[in-house]
Amino acid sequence: MTGIVVLGSTNMDLVAYVARAPKLGETVTGREFRTVPGGKGANQAVAAARAGGRVAMIGAVGEDEFGERLRHTLTASGVDTDLLRTAEGPSGTAHVVVDDEGGNAIVVIPGANGTVTRLVPGDETVIAAADALLLQLELPLSAVLAGAEAARRHGVRTVLTPAPAQPLPPGLLATVDLLVPNEHEAATLTGIADAHASAQALLRQVPEVVITLGAAGSLHAARDAGTVRVPAPRVEAVDTTGAGDTFVGALVVALGEGRPMPEAMRWASAAAALCVQRPGASTSMPYRTEIEA
Ligand code: RIB
Repeated sequence: MTGIVVLGSTNMDLVAYVARAPKLGETVTGREFRTVPGGKGANQAVAAARAGGRVAMIGAVGEDEFGERLRHTLTASGVDTDLLRTAEGPSGTAHVVVDDEGGNAIVVIPGANGTVTRLVPGDETVIAAADALLLQLELPLSAVLAGAEAARRHGVRTVLTPAPAQPLPPGLLATVDLLVPNEHEAATLTGIADAHASAQALLRQVPEVVITLGAAGSLHAARDAGTVRVPAPRVEAVDTTGAGDTFVGALVVALGEGRPMPEAMRWASAAAALCVQRPGASTSMPYRTEIEA
């Protein structure tokens, strides 16, 4: 079983379902409200564990009811939370608007995630024993960089989802083995809108890239290989929140099992296609048997 460590965020998603997202200054009446455990880090951990990985999570929840629920969601999915701290103050929250097309807009308030500024004793030992370290950009960048450097010291494969899109600290990309942006994040990093051209530009900084393209599938490019485009299953999306995280979690499990990249991308696309057909982030992530089916 693939050993995966996720160093990342936990958020309670406060989700409003609306026909159409409001413009700035506008008020709209929504249809439904839900609280759903999420956060890019926790989502990747849940997705990888449900897909069949052995997963440990490093991060923080707050001292509130949300924190208890976030921790419970991880453990209930089989994620080891021994290194998930409980920080003083509130848990991270994500204020999510989902429209009738299944698209979303999100504001994240970091809360406890903001306290994870570095690794603490014990973290590096667990990272060193893993096959892969999954990173995103919802923790302070000092912690992301420290995690990536620890993984590099121990020869552990580092997989970075550069989301939310933002300028990266110098040196971070040099520690990354596989970068998995969506097309907007890739464009933010390179200034190039076309995914193929953007992937080629990213290969100057990382050895391997998978760009997720939503309903259009995903694109793989590597320095020592050509470019492969894998289509996604055609499905009716009700909520795309967490789809990218589901893709990454499932992809890393499949790669850890030795599947070739195109097959791993197909499998991860199937997982993401299941996720978008259900509402919420962690609530919509499929189990291995569903992905296989
Ligand atoms: O990637 C989806 C996640 O982004 C949501 O669960 C939300 O918490 C935000 O962090």
